[in-house]
Amino acid sequence: MNKFYITTPIYYVNSHPHLGHLYTTLVADTVARYKRQRGFETFFLTGTDEHGLNIERAAEKGGLSIKQHVDNFVNEFKTAFAPYGIAYDHWIRTTDDYHKRAVQELWRRVRENGYIYKGKYEGLYCANCNEFYTENEAKAADDGQLYCPQHDRPLDRVAEESYFFKLSEFQGRLLELYEKNPTFIRPETRRNEVISFVRGGLNDLSISRVSVKWGIPVPDDPGHTMYVWFDALSNYITAIGFGNEQFGGLQHFKKFWPVDLHLVGKDILRFHTVYWPAFLIAAGIEPPKTVFAHGMWLSGGRKMSKTLGNVIDLAVLQKYFTTDAVRYFCLREMVFGQDGDFTYETLLERVNAGLANGLGNLASRTLTMVARYCDGAVPAPGKAGAELTRRADEVRESVTQAVAQFDREFEEYNFSRALEAAWSAIERVDKFISDAKPWDLAKQADGRGPLELILHTAVETLRHLTVLLAPVLPNATQEIWDQSGEAGKVCEIAPSTLRWGQSTGKRVGEIKPIFPKLDKKKVMDEIKQDEAASQVARTEEGKEQPVQAPAPPPAQNVSEPAPPAYITIDDFSKVELRVGQILTAERIPKADKLLRFTIDLGEAEPRQILAGIAQYYEPEKLVGRKVIVVANLAPRKMRGLESQGMILAAAVGEEGRPVLAGFLEEVPNGAKLK
Ligand code: MSP
Repeated sequence: MNKFYITTPIYYVNSHPHLGHLYTTLVADTVARYKRQRGFETFFLTGTDEHGLNIERAAEKGGLSIKQHVDNFVNEFKTAFAPYGIAYDHWIRTTDDYHKRAVQELWRRVRENGYIYKGKYEGLYCANCNEFYTENEAKAADDGQLYCPQHDRPLDRVAEESYFFKLSEFQGRLLELYEKNPTFIRPETRRNEVISFVRGGLNDLSISRVSVKWGIPVPDDPGHTMYVWFDALSNYITAIGFGNEQFGGLQHFKKFWPVDLHLVGKDILRFHTVYWPAFLIAAGIEPPKTVFAHGMWLSGGRKMSKTLGNVIDLAVLQKYFTTDAVRYFCLREMVFGQDGDFTYETLLERVNAGLANGLGNLASRTLTMVARYCDGAVPAPGKAGAELTRRADEVRESVTQAVAQFDREFEEYNFSRALEAAWSAIERVDKFISDAKPWDLAKQADGRGPLELILHTAVETLRHLTVLLAPVLPNATQEIWDQSGEAGKVCEIAPSTLRWGQSTGKRVGEIKPIFPKLDKKKVMDEIKQDEAASQVARTEEGKEQPVQAPAPPPAQNVSEPAPPAYITIDDFSKVELRVGQILTAERIPKADKLLRFTIDLGEAEPRQILAGIAQYYEPEKLVGRKVIVVANLAPRKMRGLESQGMILAAAVGEEGRPVLAGFLEEVPNGAKLK
């Protein structure tokens, strides 16, 4: 039996799951279902990446033990994915013992083969965060001193003992791998990027840290912890039995390795196509067959990220859209390999057009007519005139073509085009039914033959498409299958085994709408409310409490002057004021008072901040300007965009004209005001 092994990246357990994570997993699940349906012995792996400094820090921030923190997050990921029918064969956790032992085994092999040596890692070091930074990551002050981007304290130049992997020796072998296996990196554009990166030369890679404790100890030198990517990438072999007894150990490993498809986001392509094959070759293990890098879901034109606050909340998504609607949208809307913009409006439109009006309508009208005009039993094709017979043949031919085209596109991971092929057959049969008007024929004495030909053709089209679409729409297709009077599990029927005409005589079951049409305005209003509420909940959970306005002084007798409403220094120190630099500034359509900024506060990612100064400032003129930002103000949504802070300005004159506060001397971004 043919085998197929497919993986997703393993997800970091330091931020909440969002649509981006779900997307990779949904696509992998669909491919796994497609292969299973076609008789492949399939293994689908996903899981969580649970080591490293960031996770140590995230646990600390939440006040939990690291173990408790990672366990909670793993549950959160599993719960978030559960409604989407993700039928994985194994969920790996890098904190599992079998994985740790197996990674150590991999390390030993690479070392025995002479590709690991001990040396000194020289870099910029921040004692507060125990982390090394490159010169590019550090913030440079005017005097040349480099500052920690997190803590704004001067960085020390230090050298730490570290193990190195001899990546520099792999340039030739990697280029040969890319050359000989043109489908090793897909799509083509990504392949070219990686090739030119490797051609530029490779440096040896530091693969251990003495300053990180939460990770896998280096064999025979436990003071060193393995670099988290060495540990994480190895999951793809440890989970199928390399170096341990998981799933029957070596035998299972030999059956499934090399992996057929590593699905990854383009953000982590280099790790999978440069480091990973080099580690494997160094250990004497075959490299993967294909690494496919998909694009990013953007929101409002920018990559979804927690910091920008533009992630799509899976709880909100799930409340309004069925599993199949989300699966359909993800596969149809995003051209696989390219970035795609996510909006709820588009999701609603696509789901209504493609599912409610398209497949759902075809199913309900076809089955209802069988129930109404044929006593609930699918008729054999009746005799009809030459023209109608020719048209029925054309529909049948379009289905044959759509089925073949679907598979051709799917094999190339062109999911969007595969679905277009299926939908072209839906459009074809819809037109056939509408033109032939079976409801009129039902009233005519000589209409029986043509009516039965039309309904037979419609049911057969529906039946073929139902089987074809089972990997994409697992729930809806099973419902259509049951309503059509077919037995068994649709996901277990290979499309190639279907024969035209097998539905004759099947009795349709109870007919219920498969994809009820969504009321766009109503659903959008509700989503907006839910998103605002979930934002508030997050803020509370993150303990980023809004800075409370001081309570108004008690009402005074008008004749007595009110005492000044003093605050204590502790009150003042609750407000975190920081220097920010405006990176981008733009107007917001239909909001004539607001400007949208991205501002560098010396943090890992810039913040999005909105300010009501559009009537007084030209946005272009503000780019580069240093401003003062209230950095710990609770995030707030305005016009659907989240503002992650407030820019300070003086309110001048009666109209309160804003004049931005700033500095006459040079100050580093992120510096705190006291
Ligand atoms: N832990 C590493 C991967 C190790 S694999 C050996 C990691 N984790 S992650 O949680 O940050 O992200 C993993 C993947 O999530 C990305 O590669 C990508 O597949 C997916 N996505 C995260 N954000 C995304 C979007 N906005 N859009 C689409 N996919 C995105 O990196």
